[in-house]
Amino acid sequence: MIVNIAIDGPAGAGKSTIAKRVAKELSFIYVDTGAMYRAMALYLLREGVSASQPEQIARACENAKITIVYEDGDQRILLCGEDVTPCLRTEEVGNMASVSSAHPRVREKLVELQQRLAAERSVVMDGRDIGTVVLPDAAVKIYLTASAHIRALRRFAQLEQKGENPSLLQIEKDIADRDTRDMTREISPLRQAEDAILVDSSELGIEEVVEKILEIFRERTGERCR
Ligand code: DC
Repeated sequence: MIVNIAIDGPAGAGKSTIAKRVAKELSFIYVDTGAMYRAMALYLLREGVSASQPEQIARACENAKITIVYEDGDQRILLCGEDVTPCLRTEEVGNMASVSSAHPRVREKLVELQQRLAAERSVVMDGRDIGTVVLPDAAVKIYLTASAHIRALRRFAQLEQKGENPSLLQIEKDIADRDTRDMTREISPLRQAEDAILVDSSELGIEEVVEKILEIFRERTGERCR
């Protein structure tokens, strides 16, 4: 039987770390939909297409071949056959993804791919519109959030760890801008699905959040089997 878990929430809430851990515990596949939007954004950046050129974006959607493969359980994103996974987590690509993901053609293309993956296997899928649009029938829906300040501090620590010299003020501004864009766009804005459970990770460690979600999963799927 295929069982899907949807995890939505704003940037920096810890979705990918948590979703990956939950997937491992349950032996499900982890699907990082943000990485798909980032791959599309990378294609646009490489092609010199700006977010204000809808026709070029529509053409790019036809030409950008995005494929997902799994290596030792880890998701790899292929863009026209090239493994671009290591190129996706820069601020430039993230900011472009936040803008270009508002385009209907981009969403159409990637939602179809996401739904196909979830129809084939049990997944833990994270993103912004998974519980509301991509997998409205998911067995478990989580809305994972944390305060903007905590999310900025986490991102700051990550960048420092990578040897970068980040500005906390700039990160806070980027997070606020991205929240506004993701939550106010016309198509599939980020919002909590009515049947999603809110988990605020501001005061919780990774293990506590993972345990909470597994508990919700057991409760929900147990209910379904009775
Ligand atoms: O989760 P992330 O930071 O990797 O996502 C990058 C951008 O992609 C984010 O700003 C919004 C967009 N996105 C989306 O619109 N829908 C999703 N399901 C996942 C990400």
